[in-house]
Amino acid sequence: MPHAGFRHRRQTSRGRFDVAPDTPLLWVLRENVGLTGTKYGCGISQCGACTVQINGEAVRSCSLPVSEAVGKQITTIEGLAQNGVLHKVQKAWIEHDVPQCGYCQSGMIMAVAALFKSKPKPTDADINENITNICRCGTFQQVREAIHAAASA
Ligand code: FES
Ligand code: FES
Repeated sequence: MPHAGFRHRRQTSRGRFDVAPDTPLLWVLRENVGLTGTKYGCGISQCGACTVQINGEAVRSCSLPVSEAVGKQITTIEGLAQNGVLHKVQKAWIEHDVPQCGYCQSGMIMAVAALFKSKPKPTDADINENITNICRCGTFQQVREAIHAAASA
């Protein structure tokens, strides 16, 4: 049975869960670990609602077997703030009133925070290429503005 370490709620913790190795990581996070900030949208790696970071890279957790996450550092939206301080992407999201219904936003934020690791000042082309998350509320322009604001922060 696989087990994986999960970082969440401002601390690092590990959990051991008896689940089938091909269980999608998203379900383990939500059902076994109890971290429900990561959302289920399409289930086929298209919408990005389920995006988490694995070893700092954005991954769509609905399509990743948990066995492939074993032993890696998994960061969910619950673990993005550090020591009570919001990530600069979260701050920009608040300042720019990005969320509407909010359903897609944790995945969007995790994808953007991962992008900043490789591209601290992403261009519009970088954003188009890397942030392919879908927002049914159409917040794309606010997302873009907040990304540029966070890059300048
Ligand atoms: S729920 Fe994973 S990409 Fe849509
Ligand atoms: S804010 Fe509603 S789906 Fe994106």
